[in-house]
Amino acid sequence: MPRPRQLHDRYFKQAKAEGYVARSAYKLLEINEKRRLIRRNDHVLDLGCAPGSWLQVLEEHLGPHGRAVGVDLQEVRQRFGPTVRTVVGDAFTMSPGELLGASPGERPRLFDVVLSDMAPNTSGHGDDFLSARLCERVLDLCPGVLRPGGNLVMKILEGEPTPDVVARAKRMFTEAGTTKPGASRDLSREIFIWGKGLKSEPTSG
Ligand SMILES: C[S@@+](CC[C@H](N)C(=O)[O-])C[C@H]1O[C@@H](n2cnc3c(N)ncnc32)[C@H](O)[C@@H]1O
Repeated sequence: MPRPRQLHDRYFKQAKAEGYVARSAYKLLEINEKRRLIRRNDHVLDLGCAPGSWLQVLEEHLGPHGRAVGVDLQEVRQRFGPTVRTVVGDAFTMSPGELLGASPGERPRLFDVVLSDMAPNTSGHGDDFLSARLCERVLDLCPGVLRPGGNLVMKILEGEPTPDVVARAKRMFTEAGTTKPGASRDLSREIFIWGKGLKSEPTSG
């Protein structure tokens, strides 16, 4: 008989105890601990932000002068203070101008960091391609929404198209690579692509 999936693992319990709406919070915390991609006072775009645990991490980490904009197909129920704004929208159809214009209480300015934890509806067939499409969209958006020198973290479900997406990130950023945080389930195909230092005239193709 197959073993029941361990839903209530260590990170699930820790998230509950520490008030995070999802265990994903620990993935971002771990990636940032290792790579130092997000700094206090940064302006951050979080694509695929619902239910909002990365935004909770950002709200704590960025401080009162930082800003975070979260975008998701679904409404975020979690409530935040004035430095965080959430928008219901589709990353495929929102323009860079709309994304920049969503910053709370600010004139539009380019983001310092772009995050994407976007995930397709998985069916077991072609999920890696759907995930790669989401990542390609994030990379398409970067030159219009991320400042030169800015940083990136995005989730991808590993598969055939992954090396091409990683190679494109390596062309666009001064440094880039992949990481699998401990909080990511062993069975999951998800890994995270990180990029440091968007080149000012990036090779987008
Ligand atoms: C794993 S969840 C994100 C968890 C989030 N980082 C957190 O910590 O709470 C993935 C999210 O991606 C969103 N998503 C998928 N495709 C999207 C798209 N095209 N535009 C915006 N959001 C999208 C889904 O609605 C879902 O809420």
